[in-house]
Amino acid sequence: MSVAINIEDVVKRYGDQTVINGLSIDIKPGELFTLLGPSGCGKTTLLRMIIGFNSIEGGAIKIDDKVVNNIPISKRNMGMVFQNYAIFPHMNVKDNIGFGLKNKKLDKSEIESRIADILKVVQIEDFKNRMPDKLSGGQQQRVALARAIVIHPKVLLMDEPLSNLDAKLRIEMRNAIKNIQQQVGITTVYVTHDQEEALAISDRIAVMNKGIIQQVGKPKELYERPSNLFVSKFIGTSNVIKAKVERKSDDVYLQFSDGYTEQIRNISDRATNNATVLVSVRPHEFIISTDQDGIKGIVQNNMFLGVNTHYFVELEDGNKVEVIQDAEVAEIIPEGQSISLKVKTNRVNVFDVENEESLIEEGVANEVG
Ligand SMILES: Nc1ncnc2c1ncn2[C@@H]1O[C@H](COP(=O)(O)OP(=O)(O)OP(=O)(O)O)[C@@H](O)[C@H]1O
Ligand SMILES: [Mg+2]
Repeated sequence: MSVAINIEDVVKRYGDQTVINGLSIDIKPGELFTLLGPSGCGKTTLLRMIIGFNSIEGGAIKIDDKVVNNIPISKRNMGMVFQNYAIFPHMNVKDNIGFGLKNKKLDKSEIESRIADILKVVQIEDFKNRMPDKLSGGQQQRVALARAIVIHPKVLLMDEPLSNLDAKLRIEMRNAIKNIQQQVGITTVYVTHDQEEALAISDRIAVMNKGIIQQVGKPKELYERPSNLFVSKFIGTSNVIKAKVERKSDDVYLQFSDGYTEQIRNISDRATNNATVLVSVRPHEFIISTDQDGIKGIVQNNMFLGVNTHYFVELEDGNKVEVIQDAEVAEIIPEGQSISLKVKTNRVNVFDVENEESLIEEGVANEVG
C-alpha cells in the first residue's frame, strides 16, 4: 500500500529570491529516495514543501496521484525525522512514541499494540520507560524514528537524521534505518549531504546543486556513470585530468601528457578529433608502476592500509592525483620515487570541457584489447 510521490515542475520562492525553479522528480512506491547535495542547495526546502511546512509557488506535488499543494500538514499524513530528534524531554520513550497516536482517536488497545510493535522494530523495548536524557544519541534517534513511523504515515521524510551522531554510530544507525524502512515499506525521502551515507542507504539518489537536479539514479549508476562533472566530483573521489581526443578512422584514442595514448571505445561522436576533454579517473582506475609508459609523476605520499595502498602522486603539470593499488602487487613504491600512471579507459568518465556534460555513450561495450 505504499504511495508514489510525483514532484512536477515545482517552484519555491523566499521573497524575491527563487531557490527552486521548476524541479521534477518521480519517487516510486516503497522506495528509499535520497536528496543529496551540498549545503544550501535546497534539500530541506524541498522536503518542507512535501510535508507542507513550506508553501509551493508553482507546479504540483502529488501523493498517490492527488495534488497536495493546498492540503494542510495535519491532513497529509506524513512522518518526519529531524536532525536534532525533537523528542519531548519530559516524556518517557513510550509516551513520546504514542504522542502522535493520541490525536488519532484510536482505542487504547490499538495504541498499546502499535507502540509494542514499533518498539520491537526499532529495538528499544528495554528502554520504553526511560526518560530521553538517559538515552544515547542513537537510542534517541530510534525513538524519533519510531514516533514518525507509528502513525502509519503514507510518506516518511528524514532530514539529515544522523548528523548529530558520531561516525561509528552513524554507520550502525544507517543500517538500522535501511532495515526498518524495508520492513515497513513506507515511501521515504531522505536528505543528506554525505555521499557515502547516500550510497549506503538509498534505492535511488537525486544529486542536487543550486536547486537543480543534476542526475537521478541508483547508487552504482551515479558512481560509475555520472552524467556531468559535478556528480562525478560529488560522489566518490575523482581525479580530473585533461586529454586530447585523437580519431583515426573508426578508432578513438585519448592522448594524455608525456606521449601516453590509450584507446577508448565508448566515447560519443561529440568528442571531435583534437578536442580537449576532461577525464575523471577514480583512484582504482589508475595503474601505477615504475617501469611502463604513462603519465609521469612523483609519489608524494604512500599509505599502506592492508587491503590496498593509497598513493598521492604529483604529475609533471602540478596536478595532484590519488591512486589506489590493491595489495596483491608486491612492493610499496617509496615516497619521492618517479613513477608513471596508466589509465583504465574502459572504466573512466569523460566530460566536455565547456559544458562539463558526459561524453560517454551509454550501452556501448568498452572492452579494449
Ligand atoms: N526561510 C527562508 N528564507 C529565506 N531563504 C531561505 C529560507 N530557508 C532557506 N533559505 C535559502 O534557501 C536556500 C536553500 O536552503 P536549504 O535549507 O533548503 O538548503 P539545504 O540543501 O537543506 O542545506 P544544508 O545541507 O545546509 O541543510 C539557501 O540559499 C537558504 O539560504
Ligand atoms: Mg538542510
